[in-house]
Amino acid sequence: MKKISILAIAFSTFLISCDNQLASDRDPIEDKVDSLLAKMTLTEKIGQTAQRGTSSRVKGPLSEELKTAVREGRIGSLINVMNKKYVDELQRIAVEESPNGIPLIFGRDVIHGFKTIFPIPLGQAATWNPQLVREGARIAAVEASTFGVRWTFAPMLDIARDPRWGRIAESPGEDPYLASILSEAYVKGFQGDDLANPSSMMACAKHFVGYGAAEGGRDYNTAIIHEPLLRNVYLPPFQKAIDAGVQTFMSGFNELNGVPVSGNQFLLDQILRQEWKFDGFVVSDWNSVTEMIAHGYCQDEKEAALKAATAGVDMEMTSQAYDNYLGELIDSGEIDLAQLDRMVRAILRVKFRMGLFDQPYRIDKPEVVLSEEHLEKAKNSAVQSVVLLKNDNKILPLASEKKLAVIGPMADAPLDQLGTWVFDGNQKDSVTPLTALKESLGTESFNFVPALDYSRDRSELQFQAAVDAARKSDVILFFGGEEAILSGEAHSRAHINLPGAQERLIKELKRKTKKPIVLVIQAGRPITLENIINDVDAIVMAWHAGTMAGPAIVDIISGKANPSGRLPISWPKSVGQIPMYYNYKNTGRPASAKTFVGIDDIPRGAWQSSLGNESHYLDDGFTPQYPFGYGLSYASFSYDNMTLSSDTLSEGAEMIIRFDITNTSHLEGVETAQIYVQDKVGSITRPVRELKGFKRVNLKPLEKKTVEIIIHTDDLSFYNGNNQLVLEPGEFSVFVGSNAQATMRKDFWIR
Ligand code: GLC
Repeated sequence: MKKISILAIAFSTFLISCDNQLASDRDPIEDKVDSLLAKMTLTEKIGQTAQRGTSSRVKGPLSEELKTAVREGRIGSLINVMNKKYVDELQRIAVEESPNGIPLIFGRDVIHGFKTIFPIPLGQAATWNPQLVREGARIAAVEASTFGVRWTFAPMLDIARDPRWGRIAESPGEDPYLASILSEAYVKGFQGDDLANPSSMMACAKHFVGYGAAEGGRDYNTAIIHEPLLRNVYLPPFQKAIDAGVQTFMSGFNELNGVPVSGNQFLLDQILRQEWKFDGFVVSDWNSVTEMIAHGYCQDEKEAALKAATAGVDMEMTSQAYDNYLGELIDSGEIDLAQLDRMVRAILRVKFRMGLFDQPYRIDKPEVVLSEEHLEKAKNSAVQSVVLLKNDNKILPLASEKKLAVIGPMADAPLDQLGTWVFDGNQKDSVTPLTALKESLGTESFNFVPALDYSRDRSELQFQAAVDAARKSDVILFFGGEEAILSGEAHSRAHINLPGAQERLIKELKRKTKKPIVLVIQAGRPITLENIINDVDAIVMAWHAGTMAGPAIVDIISGKANPSGRLPISWPKSVGQIPMYYNYKNTGRPASAKTFVGIDDIPRGAWQSSLGNESHYLDDGFTPQYPFGYGLSYASFSYDNMTLSSDTLSEGAEMIIRFDITNTSHLEGVETAQIYVQDKVGSITRPVRELKGFKRVNLKPLEKKTVEIIIHTDDLSFYNGNNQLVLEPGEFSVFVGSNAQATMRKDFWIR
């Protein structure tokens, strides 16, 4: 008996210590959430799930209805309240007059800068520089939080393979590895080191998930993605956002495999919460809950509320299905009160983590907005985002004595150079290329004839003036591209060449003057160049590079800065090639340069099967205009001496890939060395190569450096046909080089 009692005492002591341990492990915020939840009425709980929208363009006094709703605890968050006084008044009402004083979260789309505008995210992705992206996000948070914005609906993490899609401008590009690294940079930049710091701005991983796979690149359209592809390509950047501490997700507009993502329990519950253990909250996209009616997935708003809440949308952005029907659904038992409590608990948890209960009010710091430091950082980001695509006869950098003809609709377009999703940036702060040229070269050193007033301008009335200016010059500097409105949400294009009469103007200039043409493109997407590629001698892709686009572009073309940008997206020859991406499958009949016969080389009366039955286009072949990862420098680099630390790996092992890079030029430059791996045989077909590492290497003239990149067998795991994460034995190849077509290769085995 004695022995048993000793055991019993020991066991109960053990249990008590476990409880104590659990109690000490329990986040104190959970207790605060529970005690607050216990005091809330059903109306207040439903109120927390409501994000009320206002257009930031609305002027005039705050509506009494809105103030009353806040006072009664019927609103949890507000979007687009950009009047500091309104922010302060609404927060004061929430904190001092609502039943439990629960603070509001003020949200805003601060996508690539607030007042100091950085390059569009696709441009920032072209820097391949996560530290720079993180700094830019931090600056955006520091500026926006002074206006009371403590929640941004960014980063947008939608993998995009179709440049017709307008929102490719906001995306991190086509590759999950690069997108995941940028995801972490954005989240840590926006949120800072302490989410409770008033200068922290909570990030939001969006649009969960598959929005970038919209059919035909038509925005909001159907996405069909089989699960292994979803898990291997589209989900990783979102999972990385959780690892980086993101507190909110946004469910998108699109349907995925027949179920709208804002009502998709597989995504919002099984993956996000069961598998990934996400404990922040999910906000719907603008009206995406009630849009499930238009999708034909919900009969009415009541069913939309039921399906969204059941699936895992915690907060409803702008539509009011929750406002109108959650109470009824709870009363009828179609939704358990426990489900609503879980939603509200997630929202309150995040509000506590943001320190809003301790510090609900914004801290005004007007001096940080558009500071010299911020503008310099924005310029640096713009410089590093620029991709040099073509540079025949090394016409760039321009020799200072060259007489320039500055032509084109984007030379002096202060609004358009900011790009899409710039609600708070102001064109009056923009420094355009024309302004920068005047400041650096003086107004006498070039002739400026826009010739087209805006990117879509079809008028040829100024063509002759442009030709005259060109005839008096040595080099034509043509600023072309897209107005900001031609990319971004709902702005997909079926043709993605230079709009308006830009191509005609370029051809006219070439035909009539024979002068060399440097084309500087400012656009929100890759621009097909098939009609003019042979008329221009150099091509510089500057994306929409933000407030400091002008000084950045001039630094690049003058040689003050050496271009280091690399494409985060494959650049197609034509729209007909789309989708064109680097991590494609080999197929059973892969195209080959050895056998390919281009359409102009096909003999008349050719025998039907004489052209090689392989996967290509007779006209546009099988390779992009420029591959993923591509970008030229004014310097030149060579790779050699590639070695692997081992040619056989077992699970859990690491491998060091070592190689030398030599700057073979007399100019300092940055090379972004890239590592691609091919899993040659798999239980499902595997991409011909996947980016698994990269390093930005600065090299002085003629300098050689040995570079090491480590990969781990975990990097080679993938989701198989049964959606299991597996590492499969077999032969692999690793390629090293300056873009996705790298050829330097070593093989190794996983045993
Ligand atoms: C928009 C966008 C989303 C944005 C939200 C709030 O429609 O899809 O990215 O954050 O509404 O403006």
